[in-house]
Amino acid sequence: MCGIVGYVGDRLSQDILLGGLGRLEYRGYDSAGIAVVDPEGQLHHRKRAGKLQVLRDDLIETPLPDGNVGIGHTRWATHGAPTDANAHPHLADDGKLAVVHNGIIENFTALRNELLADGVTLLSETDTEVAAHLLGREFRKVGNLEAAFRNVVTRLDGAFSLVAVHQDQPDVIVAARLNSPLVIGIGEGENFLGSDVAAFVEHTQKAIAVGQAQMVVVRKESVEITTFDGQPAEGEAFDVDWDAAAADKGGWSSFMAKEIAEDPQAVEDTIRGRISNGTVRLPDLEALSDEYFRDIDRILLIACGTAYYSGLTGAYALEQWTRVPVTVELAHEFRYREPVISDRTLVVSLSQSGETMDTLLAVRFARESGAKTISICNTQGATIPRESDSVVYTYAGPEVAVASTKAFVAQIAAIYLLGLHIAKVRQTLTDEEIRVETTEFQTIPDKLRETLTHHESIKELAGWMADTRSVLFLGRHTGYPIALEGALKLKEIAYIHAEGFAAGELKHGPIALIEPGQPVFVMVPSPRHDNGLHAKIVSNIEEIRARGAHVLSVAEGGDASVLPYSEAVFATPPTSVFFEPFLKVVPLQIFALELSTAKGLDVDQPRNLAKSVTVE
Ligand code: F6R
Repeated sequence: MCGIVGYVGDRLSQDILLGGLGRLEYRGYDSAGIAVVDPEGQLHHRKRAGKLQVLRDDLIETPLPDGNVGIGHTRWATHGAPTDANAHPHLADDGKLAVVHNGIIENFTALRNELLADGVTLLSETDTEVAAHLLGREFRKVGNLEAAFRNVVTRLDGAFSLVAVHQDQPDVIVAARLNSPLVIGIGEGENFLGSDVAAFVEHTQKAIAVGQAQMVVVRKESVEITTFDGQPAEGEAFDVDWDAAAADKGGWSSFMAKEIAEDPQAVEDTIRGRISNGTVRLPDLEALSDEYFRDIDRILLIACGTAYYSGLTGAYALEQWTRVPVTVELAHEFRYREPVISDRTLVVSLSQSGETMDTLLAVRFARESGAKTISICNTQGATIPRESDSVVYTYAGPEVAVASTKAFVAQIAAIYLLGLHIAKVRQTLTDEEIRVETTEFQTIPDKLRETLTHHESIKELAGWMADTRSVLFLGRHTGYPIALEGALKLKEIAYIHAEGFAAGELKHGPIALIEPGQPVFVMVPSPRHDNGLHAKIVSNIEEIRARGAHVLSVAEGGDASVLPYSEAVFATPPTSVFFEPFLKVVPLQIFALELSTAKGLDVDQPRNLAKSVTVE
């Protein structure tokens, strides 16, 4: 939610800033801007409402003087509509200092009133402009950007990654973070700042994650990290384990198309080295002892959106394998009641970005309440893993499209690895049972590849359905959260009303929605499973068919029982009960992608959304 980039070095900064913003645009894309200090010590800036391309075109038409120091921003609006005036950077009233900001300054009304009383004219409706004026005013008093920054950040409440340049100190960028992400990129004779490593991975893979309530002073040859009150501090250094090419479209029509095609790789890379010789090994969890896992009496999964659905999906196997009661909760609901948590509650957060504010605050709350926390996360150096007791990384690689796809399957894979680890420690599965599950687990990447070969037939269906106004999704057991995820994908990128239901719930109300021609996707479990669910789903299909629904089945290849009742069947390879969701979600991801494309929409950057939701 909002992307920040900064550069200081010997190169001209504009191309670097625009390149970084291009890679960060998934964090927000309703306006963009840059500010640079030229070699004469003059600050210049340009900002435009609309996608980054609007700013790029503007800079081509009317170039801005360039310099070796600069900052940039891509915005997802919180305070104030997406307009040129509200876009970042914001300038102090003397025009000498520019600021970009990600987050929300919660006490901005009081600060704004103070500035107004001081005679300052505010040009925007943003909370950020308040910080710019405070910094400008403070700089005039103390004559130094670092000192001014220190005096101002301690006055700000809420969440911020705040980055500033001043024309009178043209060799330095000063930044601070509280509850919002900030990473430094370390180059040779040049340094970078970013909301995440995508901002600079093209130039360096050496990074330092800035810690909570830390301030940084970045020059081309040095990086100095301190606490807000000036004590020396350290960030967390790491090497970025993917290169810039991984975050490029690489010839695909959209990032989402590329990322769906990477589903198999995401699972393969997440289980690589963690399953061998028929068992699971998770050295990642060494901070939590076997005694601890033997003693837990409850597992709570917390997440938002698609990550929440991965939790709902993974919970079936997690509970079955570990024999520990598992509940799954939306992170933003969890904190606002008084949940019963003890030191025997294991809280597992799921987050692709590792920065989702709702999830982060839930993790903090869980820790304060005495629970241990494990983060399942796709982003190195992100805040949630750093604030958790342990982390099991997913290795889906950078996910750029706003709609999450490959991270979803990687999250389920990580929950399963955790489940098998706990089951092994608690001996709730025998070695032989673990061998059977891990053997099947290892076949999933290839089965995903096989499922992806049906892309064209799903695309054809989506093309026919471009005018559809409502789609329903039904499932039972692990098929239910997959139905919910299928509906979410369609809502967010095709702007179609879609709902997922537990098929057993149909008769309790939703069946009233069925009228002739209503498209309904049905997740059909394998007829080979001995849980009786296949027959139940076939009955549900008959019930909706009798009322005129158009049934689109996602079923195991060769399952002839659904053919007479289905307008279309999307075949998935056979697998065991808990591994079906990996395969069943793929046709739904492709369907949403292709329906959005058929409607001529922006698949990767759907309206009103941002990838990383760093505000509550
Ligand atoms: C939907 C989607 C969102 C995210 C949610 C959590 O396609 O991407 O629902 O899953 O905002 O984000 P993370 O996983 O970064 O915490």
